Amino acid sequence: MGMMNITGLKVFTLIILFLNGLSAGYKCLTQTKLRYTKTLLSDLMINTVDTENGKIFHPLIAGSVRLGFHDCVGGCDGCINLNNPDNAGLDTTFNALNDLYARERIDRIMSRADFFALAGIVGAEVGSKMKSGQSQVQSPRIPFHWGRRDCPTSPITTEMRVFPNALGNLTETVDYFRRVFDLTPEQLAAVLGAHTLGDARKDASGFDGEWVIERDVFDNDFYRVLSDKTQLWVQENENPDDPNKPRWQWNAKKHREGKEGIMMLNTDMELFKNTAPNSDGRVTSCPADVSTCPSSRLADRVKLYASDNAKFLADFSVAYGKMLTTGYKSWELRYPSLY
Ligand code: HEM
Repeated sequence: MGMMNITGLKVFTLIILFLNGLSAGYKCLTQTKLRYTKTLLSDLMINTVDTENGKIFHPLIAGSVRLGFHDCVGGCDGCINLNNPDNAGLDTTFNALNDLYARERIDRIMSRADFFALAGIVGAEVGSKMKSGQSQVQSPRIPFHWGRRDCPTSPITTEMRVFPNALGNLTETVDYFRRVFDLTPEQLAAVLGAHTLGDARKDASGFDGEWVIERDVFDNDFYRVLSDKTQLWVQENENPDDPNKPRWQWNAKKHREGKEGIMMLNTDMELFKNTAPNSDGRVTSCPADVSTCPSSRLADRVKLYASDNAKFLADFSVAYGKMLTTGYKSWELRYPSLY
């Protein structure tokens, strides 16, 4: 009898452990809960503002799109290593999203990895609505599947993941995005349009400036600026005092609206021009005027996206949506259920 009781207790304990294990995973995500989480995210992005040189902007829009990408390098897992220099500048967004996740108990709804991916999607959606005075808004439609698993130490990790080299050439970048995200060169051209949002900072990556004038607006402006014939692009080193950390970038010296201060990384410029940077990122063939370098093999793509915002948004949605599923088989991720 005593034996029976002990066996019965063991079976009972096993059942409890099994049920607990099930509820630690997420069994279902309804459209209602998804909409609720998206609203929390977009409210946070719209209500968080910052100013620089008298200009108001919404740092979490760009930060979330970048965080969605960075969390998926090596597999989307809700874990970021803020000590990796390639993640410099992500801390504000990372902290704000983690606060919201804890405060609103979103852990009851989805994993942190799903939440970061959703934040990336909402960032692009909110950004597409930021253009003032625009009557018809064109928005990205990035598919959201859920079911990502968090790493055991989420939201932090000490794992050092490898990010693309901003000083590199097109071949390197194409190889990276094929290997890490299984993207085609054309899809790479589409996802780099995310650089229409936000900026690069001296105190973060060491690069300096915004890619376009309206840093909160998500559209095809990146390609229009890149292919704008009235612009004079000059390569300059933003960190000349440290030979071990060169920060060569392309600075706009003339703009059709007479504005300066926008820039392109080597990897951005390589989508349009074949500039042949050396291993330090320095270009010797056309540093004083990029237009004297030959066209890149993706230059026609840049021109296509520059002239067709809807096409850009459609291609961006597919390619970014794919990045956000990195590390998972198609059957591991699911669409939210209707009820
Ligand atoms: C060749 C590939 C890429 C390189 C080398 C690169 C590099 C960089 C660098 C150096 C910064 C500046 C960080 C700082 O100083 O704060 C940055 C910012 C940013 N990146 Fe990329 N990036 C790449 C691809 C992407 C992709 C694929 C996305 C998203 C789809 C993305 C989204 C962003 C966004 C939105 C920002 C602005 C962040 C902010 O203002 O907070 N980048 N990137």
